[in-house]
Amino acid sequence: MPKVVLVGPMGAGKSTVAALLAAQWGAPLRDVDTEIEAAEGRAISDIFVDDGEAHFRALERAAVAAVLDDPAAAGAVVALGGGAVLDEGTRARLAGHPVVFLRVGFADAVKRVGLGSSRPLLLGNVRSRTKALLEERAPLYDEVAVHTVDTDERTPAEVAAEVTRLL
Ligand code: S3P
Repeated sequence: MPKVVLVGPMGAGKSTVAALLAAQWGAPLRDVDTEIEAAEGRAISDIFVDDGEAHFRALERAAVAAVLDDPAAAGAVVALGGGAVLDEGTRARLAGHPVVFLRVGFADAVKRVGLGSSRPLLLGNVRSRTKALLEERAPLYDEVAVHTVDTDERTPAEVAAEVTRLL
């Protein structure tokens, strides 16, 4: 079982905090988005454009299952993409794992992703898309999380220290 699985919206700092925790704990780091891009040989934004979101979610479901089943991921810090919790199969797969929800509010999320973000689901209007996604997904993060850590106005090091304290 991984030491921790980080979920939360784009801009919550999942990848940054995961890298910090892995370094501090001397634990393996597994970033599901990175693993999908490596396996597919293309960027996530290209997967969305070429094959659509439903196909990406299926790849993501398989990648999450592969990481959670991988003996090499024992004790690892695992970062999921922000929308992984949308998929019912992925949510079911997370049951029983030490899932931490890194919560972020609207202002900090927009500040961190930047108004020029190229993330596929923010294209068009970063502010209105971020607001909608935060509202739609909050109940799903709550559903899978064992712990919740607020990241607003906190540095990645402060968030990592709080995760360490909780586990
Ligand atoms: C997504 C978040 C991204 C990536 C993809 C979809 C989402 O990951 O998986 O662009 O639906 O919120 P990050 O949360 O690491 O940016």
